[in-house]
Amino acid sequence: MRRPIVAGNWKMHGTRVDNARLIEELLSRYPDRSIAQCLVCPPFVYLQEVGRLLRDGPIGLGAQDVCAEAQGAFTGEVSAAMLKDVGCGHVIVGHSERRWVYHESDQLVARKFAAAQARALVPILCVGEQLSDREAGRTEEVIARQLDVVLELCGVSALESAVIAYEPVWAIGTGRSATPEQAEVVHAFIRERIGARDAKIAMATRILYGGSVKAGNAAELFDQPDVDGGLIGGASLNAEEFLAILAAAGSR
Ligand code: PGA
Repeated sequence: MRRPIVAGNWKMHGTRVDNARLIEELLSRYPDRSIAQCLVCPPFVYLQEVGRLLRDGPIGLGAQDVCAEAQGAFTGEVSAAMLKDVGCGHVIVGHSERRWVYHESDQLVARKFAAAQARALVPILCVGEQLSDREAGRTEEVIARQLDVVLELCGVSALESAVIAYEPVWAIGTGRSATPEQAEVVHAFIRERIGARDAKIAMATRILYGGSVKAGNAAELFDQPDVDGGLIGGASLNAEEFLAILAAAGSR
């Protein structure tokens, strides 16, 4: 069985005070036995302090992005080695806000994926179509392209230590989640696409859904056979919501 994951993507939110309060609430009410794996991804500047607050407890630490280069003259960038150095285990690559707002190409995302793995960070590779793609019937074509670039650069075996997140762009931060059926169709497509290269790896790869997941819709999304947890934006900033989502993932 694939162990579900719930990852909180804080995006550009939080203050030191807010973060401490949120972590305290999460840890004090964290379920004793959670089947699901849990992690939070704060902004870069807060990683080290949040890592300290997490105190090697049940919640892991991840970053929201990483530089594709290992080190050097890249002003403003943060390397995989640095993320590792401050205690990160995971890093999100290719989030749609990076792809669409900051024009990151599929190739750059694939290089970031490789850079993360080179430092033993687990990349959470985001893929997802825009509303116009979906309306034009191009969802699978877009997802296949985003996925294939990584598979070609890194090989299918790279997925043995990676996580995929399907995040339809039109569902992110809009309150309009994909229906469980819409999510499942794409998740099954992703698994099939990986399976064409390696059936065993496809069965083991965890594919998260992201896009307006909340306590109220998490269970039905996570009930889908190919949905292995969630990448949670807005709802991860609220301890009660986030813990309810974690509970939904743990009871699937
Ligand atoms: P959302 O964001 O849950 O606020 O829609 C998800 C994400 O962007 O990872």
